[in-house]
Amino acid sequence: ASIQTDKDFRPAFHFSPKENWMNDPNGMFYLNGTYHLFFQYYPEGNKWGPMHWGHATSKDMIIWKEQEIALFPDEKGYIFSGSAVVDHDNTSGFGDGTTPPVVAMFTYHDPKGEKEGRIDYQSQAIAYSLDEGKTWTKYEQNPVIKNPELQDFRDPKMTWDQANKQWLMVLSAKDRAYFYTSENLKDWKKVSEFGENYAAQDGVWECPDFFPMPVENSEETKWVLIQSTNPGGYNGGSATQYFVGDWDGKTFTPEADLYGKNIDHPYWLDFGKDNYAGVTWSNIPKEDGRTLFMGWMSNWLYAQEVPTETWRSAMTIARKLTLIKEDDNYIITSTPVKELQKYVGETITKWKLTNENHAIIDTNELDLTKAQVSFLIPKLTKDVHLSLSNDNGDRLKFGFKKAENQFYIDRSESGITDFGKEFASTISTGRRISTSDSLKVNLILDNMSIEIFYDDGKTVMTEIFFPKQPYTSLKVNEGVPVIDIEANEFNFN
Ligand code: FRU
Repeated sequence: ASIQTDKDFRPAFHFSPKENWMNDPNGMFYLNGTYHLFFQYYPEGNKWGPMHWGHATSKDMIIWKEQEIALFPDEKGYIFSGSAVVDHDNTSGFGDGTTPPVVAMFTYHDPKGEKEGRIDYQSQAIAYSLDEGKTWTKYEQNPVIKNPELQDFRDPKMTWDQANKQWLMVLSAKDRAYFYTSENLKDWKKVSEFGENYAAQDGVWECPDFFPMPVENSEETKWVLIQSTNPGGYNGGSATQYFVGDWDGKTFTPEADLYGKNIDHPYWLDFGKDNYAGVTWSNIPKEDGRTLFMGWMSNWLYAQEVPTETWRSAMTIARKLTLIKEDDNYIITSTPVKELQKYVGETITKWKLTNENHAIIDTNELDLTKAQVSFLIPKLTKDVHLSLSNDNGDRLKFGFKKAENQFYIDRSESGITDFGKEFASTISTGRRISTSDSLKVNLILDNMSIEIFYDDGKTVMTEIFFPKQPYTSLKVNEGVPVIDIEANEFNFN
């Protein structure tokens, strides 16, 4: 059989652009039953180029419909990452009295300035939409925030700060987060900086997000700063860490002593190599109350070389973030949004059992290219080696090493790997909960991606792969008892 290519790799239930290059999710907001996703987009090539905001919409964050390009580059520059909010009270004055304006803020990246060797070529600008995100008008007085003579100055993320009745915005400034506030989304005042002496300082900070979250099972609310960094990620290249703390309307104060310069800490949203620049949706109704997140399922180490030609990159599954307190630490867990469950087909429970309680999940009954497999290992007494494989000899290996107390993913034999030398390497991270003997595993598979949610989302590992033929079996090593297996195909017709 010929080896898999573009159309075989295209995900069924993760967003990918019909054609050409995509990176970060941008400007995500919800309004009147529709989830909007914008994204860094280069419509004329399969590598990064002059950036636009592409646009897609969905009723459930699972099935996406690509829309017309929302923002095109212009004489002021390329349209880099940013955010959007629904201005219900028309604080901006952009409204026409019929519908609340949606206001987007993005970074202008001026390639001329960059070429001339200036450092002030990134600034913040706004645009508004009076038709729920379909078409956009750029504000004529852009930029709204000029460059302060700083080379990396980008990715504004706006939020309504209900406690202090103000608009709030965070952006990345080299290896700092800058906080700004505003009354009208046009005039912004810088109120503080955060970042000195904090983790993963090797890279440039990018795509921050800042929002309040209730602490599960308590009355407490904390503020969370999500901060992508590239390079300097936990497992190399691009990755996203977070800080939990308090916000007084001007300054963010992280929990004392939790975060140092060492990157070996639990505060990464994902320990796989392929979840970057993720942020949360704005304007989620109070009755819903979820913190909904989506990231770009790639890594700058090899994103431009992955073996698809006509389209490049997909987003992660939309995830619900939850803030929990465990052993005095505030930890964010991630789980796939419940909307995914409605596409789950029949549960398949017929497994080949090699010996008592031990399952070799090797089946022709289940299409493993679009599946959810969850199970429990009741006692973690030895290594757990799992693999997804085909008859071609491709296999993606992952699991848990007991002696090291580490989860790992090894892509070295996963299929096509020769496009980037950083792609094949094995990654790992510690299992940071010690209280449980048993291990819960939930896998989401979609043609070219695996999203592993361990321990109800306390450790998440997301990675992409490109097998020459589809994977047809999932195996567990001998002697590992596996119970409560549920395997589901997804149906998207
Ligand atoms: C992150 C990033 C952002 C920037 C965008 C450009 O992946 O580098 O900082 O705005 O991509 O496409």
